[in-house]
Formats: sequence, structure tokens, C-alpha cells
Amino acid sequence: MSRPNSPVGADWLALREPADATARAAELAERLREHLPAGPLVVRDLGCGTGSMGRWLAGRLPGPQHWMLHDRDPGLLERALADLPAHVTAQPCLGDLTDLDAAQLAGTALVTASALLDLLSVDEVEHLAAACTAGGCPALLTLSVTGSVLLTPADPLDVAVGAAFDAHQRRTVEGRRLLGPDAAPAAAAAFRRHGARVVRAPSPWRLGPAEGELVEEWLSGRVEAACAQSPALAAEAGPYLRRRFDAAARGELRVVVGHADLLALPGSRE
Ligand SMILES: C[S@@+](CC[C@H](N)C(=O)[O-])C[C@H]1O[C@@H](n2cnc3c(N)ncnc32)[C@H](O)[C@@H]1O
Repeated sequence: MSRPNSPVGADWLALREPADATARAAELAERLREHLPAGPLVVRDLGCGTGSMGRWLAGRLPGPQHWMLHDRDPGLLERALADLPAHVTAQPCLGDLTDLDAAQLAGTALVTASALLDLLSVDEVEHLAAACTAGGCPALLTLSVTGSVLLTPADPLDVAVGAAFDAHQRRTVEGRRLLGPDAAPAAAAAFRRHGARVVRAPSPWRLGPAEGELVEEWLSGRVEAACAQSPALAAEAGPYLRRRFDAAARGELRVVVGHADLLALPGSRE
């Protein structure tokens, strides 16, 4: 999930990186290994941000690797290049990743992304699936929000905030309707249509008192986005957040945020 209503910030990405690393489905990375060519591997990380996917995945892949880091934010790319995993070479690819086509993917052993698909439209995901499958390139696409959020203990406003937040995730931006919580099923369907085998695994955040700062920041962003979508919620937002932060301060608040990981294997549909 991206921190809504703000450009993706390096601080937000740093705050969420440990929870992301714990949540990603390591079994999909394990399974992927069987489908990779002999190295050195060229890996493209789409929407790399500060490079957390590489820091998580590079050590799980065999042999020498060259990572092509795609992002439209030059500041984030610079940070990613400054914090590369050991034994990995990398190059920045500044620009819009939705332009990538099959020809550009030639020679790529793996396309990967983390917390990206929900920011794309259905056409962009379709284009990505077509490009990957045309070149027989596997894709490991992690941490797409599912819309499932469980806050314990419950609060009477949770449902209204959740509904408004999900609608905000699916909003239309410059003529593109974002997929939000529809991203994982849309991507799975697109890759299958193009003949890939798709393996799906849950990758939820399970947050409690040890992740207090992340919970607070995530909740603030969630409520801000919900109010942007449904301004009538604004009057209740402050008291709601105070109740939530008080519960967190007492060590009582637990949050499960649903995500899904997908491994798409072209040409190996069962
Ligand atoms: C939520 S962040 C995730 C960053 C990183 N993958 C991670 O897991 O920490 C999404 C990233 O995708 C980038 N991004 C989103 N849409 C993009 C596009 N169309 N072209 C290039 N980069 C894009 C953003 O700049 C941002 O760095």
C-alpha cells in the first residue's frame, strides 16, 4: 500500500520496509528459482522506490545479478543505487514503467515489483502481462493490497473509513482508473489470459505494539484518503484517530492488512 494522498516518500518506504520484508511470500521466491535461466540474471524491479525489493529478493536468487531499477522518481532511484545488496550490479531506468514492452524485456530473466500493481490501471496491468509473457519472462509481483483490513478491537467507524478508503484506492487519476484492491485478481486474470501459470500467496502485514510508528502513519494516511473521498467523514476523523492512537498507546491495537503476492510463469500453464 502506498501512503495515500502524498507522493511516495522515502521516509514512508523506510518505515514500511521491515513489515514488507516479513510479509512477502518467501515460498514464491523459492518456487521462482526453478524457472530462472543460468546466470548472470538480469532482473527488472518496476517501481523500485528505494530498492527494498532488491534488498529482500537478491539473496534469495541464485548467482550474480544485474538489477535494472525502474522508477519515475529520480530521488528514490538515487537512494536505491546507494543501498544495493551485496554482489549485485544495478542501473537506474528513469521514466514511466507502463511504457515497457516485450522488445525492451529481451534478455530479462525476471520482472519483479512490490507495492506497485494497485497504483496501475487495468490496461497497464494487461500491457505488463502481455510484455512479460511474449518474452517468456517470469514475474514476481508482491504486496498488492486486497482491501481486507482487520483492526482489533473494532471501532464503529472502521467500516465507513474502510469503504471510503477502498473507493479512494479505485479513484480515477488523469483518466486512469486505479485498480486498488482489484489489482491482484486483475493481474492474475491478465497473466492467465496470456498463457501464464499464476501462483498466488497471501502476504499480510500483521502489526502490533512493536510496529507502533508504522501503524500510526498507516492509519493517518488511511483516514486522510478516506476523508478526501468522503468529506462527510472529516468531522469524525479526529476523534476516530484519537481513539485508535489511545488503543495503540495502551498496547491493545492489532492490525492485519491484506496483501497478495503473485508469481506468473509464462508458458507453464497447468
Ligand atoms: C508504493 S511505492 C513502492 C516502492 C518499492 N517497490 C517498495 O516496495 O518499497 C511505488 C513506487 O512505484 C513508482 N511508480 C508508480 N507508478 C509508476 C510509473 N507509472 N512509472 C514509474 N514509476 C512508478 C513510484 O514512484 C514509487 O517509487
